[in-house]
Amino acid sequence: MADHASLAGKRVLLVIAGGIAAYKSLELIRRLRERGVTVRAVLTEAGARFVTPLSVQALTEDTVYRDLWSLTDESEMGHIRLSREADLLVVAPATANLLARMAAGMADDLAATVLLATDKPVLVAPAMNVRMWQHAATQANMALLESRGVLRVGPNDGVMACNEFGPGRMAEPMEIVDAIAGIFAQDAHRPLAGRRAIVTSGPTHEPIDPVRYIANRSSGKQGHAIAAALAKLGAAVTLVSGPTRLPDPAGCSVVHIETAREMLAACEAALPADIAVCAAAVADWRVDGVGDRKLKKDGGGPPALALTENPDILATLSRPGDRRPALVVGFAAETGDVLAYATAKRARKGCDWIVANDVSPGTGTFGGGDNTVHLIRADGVESWPTMAKDAVAARLAEAVAEHFIKDFKAK
Ligand code: C5P
Repeated sequence: MADHASLAGKRVLLVIAGGIAAYKSLELIRRLRERGVTVRAVLTEAGARFVTPLSVQALTEDTVYRDLWSLTDESEMGHIRLSREADLLVVAPATANLLARMAAGMADDLAATVLLATDKPVLVAPAMNVRMWQHAATQANMALLESRGVLRVGPNDGVMACNEFGPGRMAEPMEIVDAIAGIFAQDAHRPLAGRRAIVTSGPTHEPIDPVRYIANRSSGKQGHAIAAALAKLGAAVTLVSGPTRLPDPAGCSVVHIETAREMLAACEAALPADIAVCAAAVADWRVDGVGDRKLKKDGGGPPALALTENPDILATLSRPGDRRPALVVGFAAETGDVLAYATAKRARKGCDWIVANDVSPGTGTFGGGDNTVHLIRADGVESWPTMAKDAVAARLAEAVAEHFIKDFKAK
């Protein structure tokens, strides 16, 4: 059996939808409560046809929430509070219908509304007829929900209530308890809780005129992954992002900017911070004297663009002073002599660490999924094997966390 120590004192909001497996949810409530979990339940209209509100109420020793409209009454807890006061939302059984409504973002009953309003992780335990589970619609809904971060346990193979055989049986109560314990155990590893981090990511766009701009090939993948990895370890992350095609990473506060000067202003507005990671590919130059009219081909030849230097965000954040983050990390994208250039860059910019990588044509680093980096610190160089950018981000975030633990012990 998995370790259930992480469960004590946690609050679960259990959504019971209408399926024959709902009887197992009563057992689930008992098993969770035995382990010190506070369980509050939302019962859908269909769910109440399979288990009685009275049984759920007796087992949770709490009100059973059923009606969206009663929660609009000022004297009652609102549905937003209901969904936010839990540490985790568990949907068991999760029927095909409720999964479809979740995927579509509907809010047509209390269950769907709390699932839409929550900012907490959601775990679903699907339970339905095998053909309903295998139907392309359900599979597409489930895949969409998982891509949005919804977690799943089961369904299991077995004989169904309808005598068909295959996947569709809800996971057993103890399997669901194990899955919940796993989620909380992961959550417990938050060594950066209470730390604030600023991460820059993506390219900047520097206008030439109102319709044209100078850009670069940065995809933002590495910077976004670092922001997500720091947030996962508990840091409060402000991601300052240039224009990218990426979705905002979960758990970060994201400021979208276009130019280097806007990026600097957004970083300064996010101070004070303990950590700054400058992963953005900031344009070194911008066009001087951009007017509010489009440049025209007037027969007089191409315009002479006068360039002027952009502020160096990494160097600015690294400048000694009260507001300097305790740990400033820069990136060095080089196309040869990576270590020598990167070591010199660390000194020149005044940052603490440099993550150096080779972006020569053929390495596939720009826009690609993998990265090969060297971490350059005051006391030496660590060369990491080629890894997915997500893995580089996770390792860098762990190194940041370790730095703060050591720093704390040294004081
Ligand atoms: O000087 P170079 O562009 O090679 O330095 C790269 C590092 O400096 C990266 O960490 C990048 O995010 C940061 N940088 C910056 N502001 C600039 C130029 C670079 O923060 N204007």
